[in-house]
Amino acid sequence: MNAKKTKKIVVLATGGTIAGLALDASQPQNYTAGQVAVADLLGSVILKGLDVQTEQVAQIDSKDMSFGLWQRLLARVAHWVSQDDVQGVVITHGTDTLEETAYFLQTVLQPTKPVAITCAMLPANVPDSDGPGNLKEALAWTQASDSQGVYVVCAGQVHPGQTVQKSHSQQRNSFTSQAPVTSPLSLRVPSVAQVLACKRWPRVELVLNHAGADGHLVRTLMAHDAPQGWVAAGTGNGTLHLDLEAALLEAQNQGSIVLRASRCAWGGVQSRDADVFPHAGPLTAVQARVALWLHLVSLHAA
Ligand code: SIN
Repeated sequence: MNAKKTKKIVVLATGGTIAGLALDASQPQNYTAGQVAVADLLGSVILKGLDVQTEQVAQIDSKDMSFGLWQRLLARVAHWVSQDDVQGVVITHGTDTLEETAYFLQTVLQPTKPVAITCAMLPANVPDSDGPGNLKEALAWTQASDSQGVYVVCAGQVHPGQTVQKSHSQQRNSFTSQAPVTSPLSLRVPSVAQVLACKRWPRVELVLNHAGADGHLVRTLMAHDAPQGWVAAGTGNGTLHLDLEAALLEAQNQGSIVLRASRCAWGGVQSRDADVFPHAGPLTAVQARVALWLHLVSLHAA
């Protein structure tokens, strides 16, 4: 017999609603994320013909995601995608910061195998939970795919990891993505080794433009514990209140790097002649924050 051996899929679990438990299954909104072990999650999925190996990397609500955990996850994904007997990796993750993790992993690792991140909006013990279906879908996609890179696979859709965003807080299909657009940013990207070696994470704060945005928050922080970077989620095309702009100019003069994004969910920022600060183009504010953070990690490592 000369049967071709099926390559395995590695499932890395980090927690989230997909591993959440409701106290009372009739009230799915009252639940705790990150409770069910990855082996039990797979128990509810039929794995016909698949060779699956699991690792519980973390067990958190993704609102509590940290740079330390990102390092751990990056190390595990990098390890597994480099193995000859691995077809690809599936990551189970909470929906809330999934877009940041997806952007981070794709930007730093640019894996040459399929990496599917999946999730759920309903906890695992609710009868019509979307978790088992999404996990099954992510496994099937990874098994069949020859895509290279990080994708979000959920609710019957596949989104590129660098352009995906959570755009609905309640519905099962909570993600959207835009077509990849070339970013005008010339930010540095650290190597995997540089990210893993980073011990003092740069601080990049996010500030929102709004009526009455007077820059007080920026000035206060700069006076006490100045962040190395600021991302301003501007109004519309990344515009800033004159007073916030003045405070951010002061921060820039004190050595912080300032980047603008838009607080609008769609469209990003386009260049204008009157621009005072660089902008992050199509990136959302949270993606721009990760991009600037990675730039600073790379600068510090150099
Ligand atoms: C989380 O992000 O961990 C909780 C929310 C979710 O997964 O939908």
